[in-house]
Amino acid sequence: MTDNDSEFTVTPYTVSGEIDYEKLLEQFGAGRLTDEQIARFPEPVHPLVRRRVFYAERDVDRFLSAATAGERHSIVTGRGPSGAMHLGHIVPLYFAKRLQQQTNALVYIPFSDDEKYFVTDRSLEEIGEQTRENLRDLLAVGFDPDRTRIIVDTADADVIYPLAVAFGAEVTESTFKAAYGESQNIGHSFYPAVQAAHLLLPQLVTGRHPTLVPIGVDQDPHVRVCRDIAAKQRYDVDKPSALLSKFLPSLEGSGKMSSSSDSETAPTIHLSDDRETVFEKIHTHAYSGGQSTVDEHRARGGDPEADVSYQLLHSFFEEDDDRLDRIAREYRNGSLLSGELKGMAATAVASFLDAHQRRRRRLNSLETELRRYQLTEREREHARRRVGHSTFKAMI
Ligand code: TRP
Repeated sequence: MTDNDSEFTVTPYTVSGEIDYEKLLEQFGAGRLTDEQIARFPEPVHPLVRRRVFYAERDVDRFLSAATAGERHSIVTGRGPSGAMHLGHIVPLYFAKRLQQQTNALVYIPFSDDEKYFVTDRSLEEIGEQTRENLRDLLAVGFDPDRTRIIVDTADADVIYPLAVAFGAEVTESTFKAAYGESQNIGHSFYPAVQAAHLLLPQLVTGRHPTLVPIGVDQDPHVRVCRDIAAKQRYDVDKPSALLSKFLPSLEGSGKMSSSSDSETAPTIHLSDDRETVFEKIHTHAYSGGQSTVDEHRARGGDPEADVSYQLLHSFFEEDDDRLDRIAREYRNGSLLSGELKGMAATAVASFLDAHQRRRRRLNSLETELRRYQLTEREREHARRRVGHSTFKAMI
């Protein structure tokens, strides 16, 4: 959606300008996440929620009621495999894993390789290669195989396509335009039906229940389109709930941590970066809220809110509130220097990546690993039947 007064655009396909997150809520019609809602999350509440990186929501209470009452509930969090994964991509997956451990949630993780082929200039081979690489990163997170399903749109077409067909008839051209802007080709125009299939899949497989979609606020149009489909009550499903996040800052300090602006001034931190690279990137490129000389910094102090290293600690990497408060205080009063703060962030990020990479290296072949996370034949059949589809295979 484009806002004319303040000149920013946020859709799943374009994010530009200085984003006014509050204004976005008005435009999208989502609610601010309240203190009461945050307090309903299971303890320890993840920093992304506690510190309001997830700052907005749709129907999150319904999901929380089911989760805290031990009733069936699910989480859908996906990946568009357009390139190598960076920190901003993996953080929501670790969040979903934590919730799964806390509440036993079913977790469905769709890969929209079709979408990324429609909207980027990469070849099918490249998208396929990225899909395999990204899948290894996903597997390294360590979801519970008994409660987690991984779906790749083109590889799981036997289930995704019949559902997308059912939902495709419910999205008009004008709905597409209002939610996403111009479509790039007819594949792109069809894709919202596919993402609706992702968001409703847990319910179509296991029966009606509350589903939570924790995503970047730019993806909210997909949630809205899907909720409109669900609201028609043709398929006996709940409207999915959503938890909407602000963007993790890029190293240069604003907007979205983007994988496409890599070669330019501010590189992003990739999941494959080693310790030395992480330190180098943060020390050289992370936007600092400090003063330009040490003397000036000691005298006037820095601004943690503007500082990317602080933001990294705040959103994900420093769970301890007391330690985080102390860091902010000492940075403000000038006793903590920018270089020291960068060192703290770099150490935390590097250790996190080190553990992630170790788990990734220990994985078996992709085929072997994925087998534990695939939908069973029965589950596929169940979902297809829920939209009124019976396969040719099932008839012979
Ligand atoms: N469209 C998302 C992206 O480009 C990826 C995605 C596909 C997704 N299906 C999803 C995200 C379902 C959350 C839930 O990043």
